[in-house]
Amino acid sequence: MNERTTLKINENGHLEIGGMDTVDIAKKFGTPVYVFDEAHLRNMMRAYQDVIDSDYDGFGLVLYASKAFSCKAVYSIANQENIGVDVVSGGELYTAVKAGFPTDKIYMHGNNKLLSELELALNCKVGTIVVDSYHEADILDKLCKERNLKQNVLVRINPGVEAHTHAFIQTARTDSKFGFSVSDGSAEDMIRYLLSKKNLVLEGYHCHIGSQIFEKQSFVLAAKKVLDFAFKIKNKLGFELKKLNMGGGFGIWYNDEDPKLKPEDHADYLKTLISAIKTKVKEYKLNKPYLLIEPGRSIVGEAGITLYTVGAVKDIAGIKKYVAVDGGMFENPRYALYQSKYTVILANRATEECTEMVSVAGKCCESGDLIAVDVPLPKAESGDIMAVLSTGAYNYSMASNYNRNFIPPAILVENGKADYIIKPQTFEDIVRNDATPDRLK
Ligand code: LLP
Repeated sequence: MNERTTLKINENGHLEIGGMDTVDIAKKFGTPVYVFDEAHLRNMMRAYQDVIDSDYDGFGLVLYASKAFSCKAVYSIANQENIGVDVVSGGELYTAVKAGFPTDKIYMHGNNKLLSELELALNCKVGTIVVDSYHEADILDKLCKERNLKQNVLVRINPGVEAHTHAFIQTARTDSKFGFSVSDGSAEDMIRYLLSKKNLVLEGYHCHIGSQIFEKQSFVLAAKKVLDFAFKIKNKLGFELKKLNMGGGFGIWYNDEDPKLKPEDHADYLKTLISAIKTKVKEYKLNKPYLLIEPGRSIVGEAGITLYTVGAVKDIAGIKKYVAVDGGMFENPRYALYQSKYTVILANRATEECTEMVSVAGKCCESGDLIAVDVPLPKAESGDIMAVLSTGAYNYSMASNYNRNFIPPAILVENGKADYIIKPQTFEDIVRNDATPDRLK
């Protein structure tokens, strides 16, 4: 069990989160349901901002990466915690604005921002747009000119460090669809181009080297490469960065192959990154850049669990045992997409010994519709409540109505209270946007 969350096993042998028995949550709200631990979310937001405050004189801002999980309530929490957010679509931006999030603390990403998204960003007075193509620079400059305004921008660069969990690789050239490479001159060309745009104010650089990263050195290396580049550009083009956005990517615990980090361990990643930045800034006598980081998964991932009800149990003698639940790839597509591993427990029998290895299947008409493969469980029976842990990030945000299943609701738990932050869908929602042309009537 993860001691950082409010997750624990109570005296009834049930899993508890946010002071609520998960069996009661399942009874009250039904299943499947996403459950978010408010205390955990807030702790993680604070843990990172505290490091910026203590180790970098408060000269920077944590931006919560909305793509991990976004809804109005999360923006309200981020706002109360005085952090910023990054958004990657009109939909995320609209949600943040609807939640009353201060738009000057919104950073807008995207490798192919639509005209309508850029217009929305300007209409909402988004603080910073992270430019990722010539196409975008042209459209944005034109829109700003028409509106007679100047827009702060960062440019997304690619430092040639790609990290994957425990390993990272350095590449001279990148084949990523994101950013401009520092090593082949394309980032420099783009900076020159942006500096020539009268209505865009280039403030600095953004990079993001990957996700679910545990190797501290990959962040250190990325910071060094970006600042080497910043120094080169200062000397060559006379442009000195004012802002440095190092993206997100800090890893979390999904199962026991991953380290179990406490908030202070997560904070340590940022401390290491900051120390590398300070060293380089000093070495090159640069002005200290305003620092931004964009953690998503590590803020919300372990804050969330998903509760299911076990339905059919199918034992294929000597081959495999499937325990089917009322969810599936429509609400957690990460096994189907990435073969992601999760920790699964029977929430109503949490103290019972695991006696068998099973695969957890969803209810979609597709063999690959699995939540977890070969995980230990007590002998599950229909009606048991199953909890899958660390589902707060990239589950709801990647859910769909595949097979016309309902995207589950989400609730926020805190100190024995539970409230909807995303309401349940109904059959009416499923057909809401269907249209029947007259000739079919
Ligand atoms: N900033 C940028 C520019 C990003 O592209 C991302 C993630 C983040 C921040 C947040 O990274 P995090 O701290 O959450 O690792 N769907 C995948 C994850 C894709 C992440 C893409 N970008 C998954 O389910 O694992």
